[in-house]
Amino acid sequence: MCGIVGYAGARPCKDILFRGLRKLEYRGYDSAGISIIGDGRFELLHSVGNLDNLEAILDRMGDAGTLGIAHTRWATHGRPSTENAHPHTDCTGRFAIVLNGIVENYLRLRAALQGEGHSFTSETDAEVVAHLIERAYRGSLREAVVEAYRQMEGHFTFCAIAVEEPDVIVGIRKETPLVVGLSDGENFMASAIPAFLAETRSVVFPEDGDVVVVGRDAVEIFDLYGAPVDRPVQTIDWDDEAAEKAGYETFMLKEIHEQPVALADTLAERIGPDGRVVLDGLGLDAETVRALQRIVIVACGTSYHAGLVGKYALERWARLPVEVEVASEFRYRDPVIGPGCLCIAISQSGETADTLAAMRLARQAGAQVLALTNIVGSQATREADGVLFTRAGLEIGVAATKTFLTQVLATLLFALWLGERRGLMDGERVRGFTEELRRIPALLSDYLEDGAAGRVELVAARYAARRFFMVLGRNIGLPVALEGALKLKEISYVPTEAYAAGEMKHGPIALLEEGSPVLVVATDSRVYDKLISNVQEVKARGARIIAVASEGNEGLAEMADETFLVPRTDEMLAPLLSVVPLQLFAYYVAKARGEKVDQPRNLAKTVTVE
Ligand code: AGP
Repeated sequence: MCGIVGYAGARPCKDILFRGLRKLEYRGYDSAGISIIGDGRFELLHSVGNLDNLEAILDRMGDAGTLGIAHTRWATHGRPSTENAHPHTDCTGRFAIVLNGIVENYLRLRAALQGEGHSFTSETDAEVVAHLIERAYRGSLREAVVEAYRQMEGHFTFCAIAVEEPDVIVGIRKETPLVVGLSDGENFMASAIPAFLAETRSVVFPEDGDVVVVGRDAVEIFDLYGAPVDRPVQTIDWDDEAAEKAGYETFMLKEIHEQPVALADTLAERIGPDGRVVLDGLGLDAETVRALQRIVIVACGTSYHAGLVGKYALERWARLPVEVEVASEFRYRDPVIGPGCLCIAISQSGETADTLAAMRLARQAGAQVLALTNIVGSQATREADGVLFTRAGLEIGVAATKTFLTQVLATLLFALWLGERRGLMDGERVRGFTEELRRIPALLSDYLEDGAAGRVELVAARYAARRFFMVLGRNIGLPVALEGALKLKEISYVPTEAYAAGEMKHGPIALLEEGSPVLVVATDSRVYDKLISNVQEVKARGARIIAVASEGNEGLAEMADETFLVPRTDEMLAPLLSVVPLQLFAYYVAKARGEKVDQPRNLAKTVTVE
């Protein structure tokens, strides 16, 4: 949450910083600001609302500055306002800072600083950092940053600049992201790589407590005691076009259409010539696999739904008990976990605070931890015993789509891998599934190219004014129903309930009235007939049925009021196809209601606070 960019170079930097912010706008968009050093003084600009408002006043800032920091905010402490927008400055106006995360002891620090005569201009936790640096400064910004850092509790990243040191930006992180971009005669610092991807692909990932000094010609990293630290330079293979809309009206629509490629990339080299699943880097040797007694999956939001798909697959193919836990609940219970347990943490960003905390808890208790993430170098990858990467590429739309699909695929692959390693699936059975998995990207591509979006849009337009939706599913269709409902809630703001269809008559069916729209995930499955009985019960109460069904299922098409047919596949793989019309449905309901799909209210892409 919140996006930070810093630049030190020879070029006038306000536009470079602004372009960087644009690429990070998915992290927060309720206010923004830039601070640059030019002609020996700070220039500062703040605006409320998304970046269009900052862009509108950007020409108020001069072009002299060639070093600066910028921020786009997702409010935690203090409402969105100009006063609360970053960068924040100290009392003397010599230091400016931007922060992502939360300073948990800020009230104590603020009171102490006020007692010493410091005056505050915002309601934020972040402003204390500028005053702590002011108090600690004795001619070295690096040392003052360390001094401030030592007094702060919480999880945060901040970057600071000082008028007296116009050639450096100093940054430091604690459990939230900070990446450094290296280029010729100029260097960058940011919350995420897209901020500088148009300029460089050479990246360094500092660790917690690394003090990063970014200058024009060099980047130096020190530990908290001032000793130099060496961190490897990595080359990122994303290209900057991934952060553009490529002709689509929104990132979300583009990302829905990128799903066939994301699936193909995630599959690449993971199915051997013999049809077996090949997964490296899991940190699971034969002995650990033999000793496994159970699996706990921890995740939030959409990633939690991918975990639910994983439960069905792991239980069926690997025959281990699997629990799927909302990370924010798991971390504050007394979960029974320890050696013999595999904890799978699913997080597209690899930075979600609750998921990271759940991982740590599991690890401390002696469980083996596997991170399933889309982001190389993310915090989850550093704290896990092994990593399974999805390869969805950059996802900017706040509502996850292609990362969900690739998470589902990765959990299916892992379940097949584990089933075989545990001696429960022979090569032929695994090959049957992997051959079908290989077909899925093309099936999905054909489905999308064959006008699926247009068909869903027409139906969505008919229902967009409704004030309530219900989404039903059974078995492996249930996580798909939950995900479809989350998409509707996130971007269209229409209250939506998702239920196991068999649960309807235990209460939720009372919600239905004549004409209530009920979406049903009704692709082929072992519980198809049961599901159809549930659909009949709902229909008998006057609900309108919008069904997602397998191609060729004319019977259901006759019963439903609207039908989205998806290509037929094995029931365990069906979520890879059946969720897509639901993503599109949520998308077009939101568009018809005039909502900002890529920037839904109150949300941010990466939730680095509890
Ligand atoms: C998905 O549409 C949401 N934006 C949200 O639920 C998200 O899945 C959740 O915050 C978890 O994020 P992560 O995968 O990066 O951990």
